[in-house]
Amino acid sequence: MKDNIYFDNAATSWPKPESVYAYTDSFFRKNGVNPGRGGHAMLVEAEAMTFATRRMLAAFFGFKGDPNRVVFTLNATDSLNMAITGLLQPGDHVVTTRLEHNAVLRVCNHLVQSGDITMSQIQPGADGYIAPQDIEQAIQPNTRAILFNHASNVLGTVQPLEAVGQIAKANKVALIVDSAQTAGVIPIQMDQYGIDLLTFTGHKGLFGPMGIGGLIVSESIDLPPARFGGTGVDSISDFHPEIYPHRLEAGTVPLPGIAGLHAGQKWFRELGLQQQLVQGKPTGDDHGELCRLAQHYVHQTELSHIARIDAWLREIPGVTIIGNPRSSERVSLTSFVCDGMSAEQIGNMLDADHQVCVRAGLHCAPLVHVDTGTADSGGAVRISPGFFNDEDDMQCLQQALQDVLAP
Ligand SMILES: Cc1ncc(COP(=O)(O)O)c(C=O)c1O
Repeated sequence: MKDNIYFDNAATSWPKPESVYAYTDSFFRKNGVNPGRGGHAMLVEAEAMTFATRRMLAAFFGFKGDPNRVVFTLNATDSLNMAITGLLQPGDHVVTTRLEHNAVLRVCNHLVQSGDITMSQIQPGADGYIAPQDIEQAIQPNTRAILFNHASNVLGTVQPLEAVGQIAKANKVALIVDSAQTAGVIPIQMDQYGIDLLTFTGHKGLFGPMGIGGLIVSESIDLPPARFGGTGVDSISDFHPEIYPHRLEAGTVPLPGIAGLHAGQKWFRELGLQQQLVQGKPTGDDHGELCRLAQHYVHQTELSHIARIDAWLREIPGVTIIGNPRSSERVSLTSFVCDGMSAEQIGNMLDADHQVCVRAGLHCAPLVHVDTGTADSGGAVRISPGFFNDEDDMQCLQQALQDVLAP
């Protein structure tokens, strides 16, 4: 019997692959030093691992530019702050959506409040999808960027990224994408989709630890340094270096986090190799291709969990699933409310009585709840299965939902 049955992978993935724990621990013990700050053997090893991780992530996200433009940050929020405040200038307009997380909303709201920028927030359809033509219609002569999340962390709907990329290109505006809910599950081809700034977080679908995220800056754009300080290069200069990654990384990098992402990338690669064998496809060695295969498998596995959970919920009287994600254009999360019970009450009962971990509340995406009518009653309950949930977990969840929602 497990202590906890974890269904909160949209908040953070848990557990991580065993190899992530093992590699992070051993790398930190053997080479936990400060890359780029000298030339001794331990540093060289740490520097090599760090650069290899940038390279793997570039391939993972379909970015063929300089891997040094894969910049390490603290998390998606940190990356989004850097991307938004670095790119938008006084007088600019940004097109974004009402599906955004506070990591986008609040940054933009502050810039609007200070009078620096103006913003259009596109309303999704009742099913939770953004219509690309609505984005195009909102573009103004001073629009600098389109900024949106690839998948909603409340509705699970995956937005038409490629179509929006074409609109951005045709209208010569930058495209900033928040991949917090899709990186590791749905392959993103940064160059092909025309993404200028791609933000990701390490602790969700990429299976890294907390405290590591990233921002990939396409060759078509340059961001000013967001912080100034030591980088280990050009120390005599009075000013922060302009070369990547130092341009956007100041101070000591989060090496254990980078090691975790490194091991996560290798885990995807291994899974991709296994999938090649299963599918009887010729064995290739391209990291990006292997990881895309692996992500497809992870996504299919998770989708089979979420389809079953939705079916259980639909059978329970009084339960309403919010949004209406299509069976394939979605990620593995579902949010619901139940007549006569608050989301918080349901979450607490699932946890206290059944050790089932879910997330109840507004999920840091308040406008989604305003639009679905769930804001005033404390939000919804979100269940988000992950790749490592097994049949026992699923059966415990089914029983727990029955006991709490239909006793
Ligand atoms: C869509 C979306 N964007 C941004 C974030 C912020 O991620 P982090 O907390 O890792 O910065 C999240 C986290 O839940 C998210 O779901």
